[in-house]
Amino acid sequence: MRLETERLILRPWTDADRAPYCAICADPEVRRYYPSVLTADETEAMIDRMIAGLDRDGFGFLVAERKSDGAMLGDIGLSPVPMPLRGSPKIEIGWLLGRAFWGQGYAPEAARACLAHAWDVLDADEVVAFTSIPNGPSRRVMEKIGMTRDLQGDFEHPEIAEGHPLRSHILYRIANPLRS
Ligand SMILES: CC(C)(COP(=O)(O)OP(=O)(O)OC[C@H]1O[C@@H](n2cnc3c(N)ncnc32)[C@H](O)[C@@H]1OP(=O)(O)O)[C@@H](O)C(=O)NCCC(=O)NCCS
Repeated sequence: MRLETERLILRPWTDADRAPYCAICADPEVRRYYPSVLTADETEAMIDRMIAGLDRDGFGFLVAERKSDGAMLGDIGLSPVPMPLRGSPKIEIGWLLGRAFWGQGYAPEAARACLAHAWDVLDADEVVAFTSIPNGPSRRVMEKIGMTRDLQGDFEHPEIAEGHPLRSHILYRIANPLRS
């Protein structure tokens, strides 16, 4: 899976992406709405899982590379929903960028290309996104790309400890516009 936007290339992972992505995931600001930062070993394991997912499913979380200078901005993509959610959605969209690249509209630009891929190539019925309640920036991206909050879709994230302030999550959805 490889996608292109005006400013970005979304492509599979290479070994050269490992060091910059480890640095991104070790940044407490980037991981502000996650339970913790990640060690290099944890990030490497996550990259391995993303590569395996791409190989297995034919779609997954991709590297966002800036065309103008080749900078590795972070990851964004589509992936199978990893837990039961209201309405049993099958595909989620997600994003995580290095702090230096925030606020320039990169995530919504890349996300729109991912949604187009979900509709045109994967023929998905819908795509969902979810985040912890206080993650305003991520919610803004969901809104910018036309997703709507499912007010009945709130859930407790099964991988976050009970009682943790980031455990409560909200769910956004968007239906395939080619079906309406
Ligand atoms: C969520 C994220 C991918 C947004 O990417 P982006 O390319 O900056 O998206 P946008 O440029 O459209 O900005 C989205 C919102 O981020 C916020 N934002 C912008 N610049 C910011 C900055 N420097 N610091 C903090 N928040 C900022 C604003 O609320 C903005 O909304 P606005 O355009 O209405 O003002 C990015 O903030 C990120 O990687 N965060 C850390 C990882 C994360 O939480 N991922 C989501 C997990 S569900």
